[in-house]
Amino acid sequence: MKVLTINILTIFPGIFESFLKYGMVRRALENELLNVIIHNIRDSAHDRHKTVDDAPYGGGSGMIMKPDILAESLKSTLPFKENRKPPVIFLTPQGKLFDQSCANRLSMMDEFILVCGRYRAVDERFRELFVTEEISIGDYVLSGGEPAATVIIDAVSRLIPGVLHDFESGIEDSYQNSFLDCPWYTRPEIFEGISVPEILLSGNHKNIKKWRYEQSMKRTLDRRPDLFEGSKKM
Ligand code: ADE
Repeated sequence: MKVLTINILTIFPGIFESFLKYGMVRRALENELLNVIIHNIRDSAHDRHKTVDDAPYGGGSGMIMKPDILAESLKSTLPFKENRKPPVIFLTPQGKLFDQSCANRLSMMDEFILVCGRYRAVDERFRELFVTEEISIGDYVLSGGEPAATVIIDAVSRLIPGVLHDFESGIEDSYQNSFLDCPWYTRPEIFEGISVPEILLSGNHKNIKKWRYEQSMKRTLDRRPDLFEGSKKM
């Protein structure tokens, strides 16, 4: 059985505590299909104040994360101690945009390391020497990499074989993974004067399947026509 191990470097380990306790991610951890190890970067700082940042050379506002502390934190992870060379992924708006194909690729790995930056920047030499890949979760600036790490862990762990039940994974409707989902309804049949589409009450499963497929295509065409180009698989 394959286990994916994700090591995370952060100065705010607490951010991950509740995230890892719920739903599908919790199940993946409990079933030992996923292993998440959190490292507090501050544990690698040795001065009295546990300093992890310093002022930028050349001046300017904001602080820069120190390369020596980050490197020591990275080397304290098991893959580095055991001399493996897992992908070291730095989370930054300057990285390659995260999408479903990236999630698929990461889910097939045995292990990778996520580095969450804070402050204005991370010293460029750490990126040069240790980072093998940079990922952005969208064209906006977060105050740190931690929310991006949770997004990536969620998207990736649901793709590990055995984590999702069949009904959750959309196995019966393979097109769902490439296009936007169709509308769904549950009881009551009439809500605020709006009825459930009649076809869904018809019991004709062949027609229902066709309707759902058409709705999915229409929604994709209306909202995300770029998905038809095939480059941004959902
Ligand atoms: N850190 C700050 N902003 C980010 C983003 N958009 N994606 C990933 N990491 C980030």
